[in-house]
Amino acid sequence: MMFVSNLTRIIDIMTTNKYESFLNKFNEPDWLETLEKLLPAIHAVDRNAVQIWFRFYPLALFRYLQNADDKAVAVQKFVMQGKYELKDQIDSSHEFLYGHRFWTTIKNEIVRRAESFDDGNADLTEEIKRIAKAAADQSKTTESLTIGIVAVGLMTLTQTGFDAFKNAPGAAKQPTGLMKKSPDQIVGNRAKDDSQGLLGFLKTINKEWTVRYDETAAGGKFKLMNDEEIASGAARDQSQNWLEKDARCGEGVIPVECRSAACGTCWIGILEGAEKLSDVGVRERKQMKIFGYNQPDDAKPILRLACQAKANGAVSIVIPPWNGVFGKKIYGNVEDVELEPATTSAAKLRETIATATENN
Ligand code: FES
Repeated sequence: MMFVSNLTRIIDIMTTNKYESFLNKFNEPDWLETLEKLLPAIHAVDRNAVQIWFRFYPLALFRYLQNADDKAVAVQKFVMQGKYELKDQIDSSHEFLYGHRFWTTIKNEIVRRAESFDDGNADLTEEIKRIAKAAADQSKTTESLTIGIVAVGLMTLTQTGFDAFKNAPGAAKQPTGLMKKSPDQIVGNRAKDDSQGLLGFLKTINKEWTVRYDETAAGGKFKLMNDEEIASGAARDQSQNWLEKDARCGEGVIPVECRSAACGTCWIGILEGAEKLSDVGVRERKQMKIFGYNQPDDAKPILRLACQAKANGAVSIVIPPWNGVFGKKIYGNVEDVELEPATTSAAKLRETIATATENN
């Protein structure tokens, strides 16, 4: 009996290693390309969310830290703060996706597939679709609602390893707030502009807009004045003890330090309403590269700095649980780093960033 049990375990290890080996063949550009191919098949409710998630948890950064001689030193050099590791949030990093509600089934399907996998030449796109179909059939839903969360699940497995992934409880948070509605209703309500009253069309400077920062909570929103930076509106909302929830949140629900695009603390994902934000300026664009945040190359991208983006309408955002400065080291995409003159009192922070972006 003992022999059978040990044999089963050895076979288990051999087969699961095959799946991890398969997933480890793909690098960050491969994943982003795969995602691009899958986007048309993903329901609008999760189309931006899944792209944001993949930029919140960059594979290149994970691999760099995994292979660093001294990870603690690397983390310090990158000025990383908050929860950046997926191993600490296997079941929760994706709560902002509609597909999160299917997580228990998705995780079980991924584990099942990993344990029986025997095709090292499988195609990543087809692999995601295959698991998404099985999970959708089990959950009595459509693949358009499971493809995104399956991609997230496979990347989570890649960054946590099979054993940790399998052993996570696999619990999914019950939908609350706006997330209780149907996918189409969520899309319709997500960034609906606020009524400005009967004579609203006459208002010029005193319009107010809602910024949703947590679609799973009924109260997960704050107000913003027209053409105001998102971080400024967030700082006025003192309805909760933000610091108690996240040590980075000294001023409001969005962590901020410099307010001048110099530190990278305030990055956010835009679930809906990116077109109602001011265009990315030269400085924000350049700084995003320095920070390492993989901002798509659009005038109104889905990744922004909350201290720079001004809104002229309602938007729905998601706040990442960490921040850092790793662009030069990880992507090599920064030629010269010119830190701004003293536009912020955070001189110490600028010094740290200078260290994080130096050549060696
Ligand atoms: S608060 Fe420093 S970049 Fe926005």
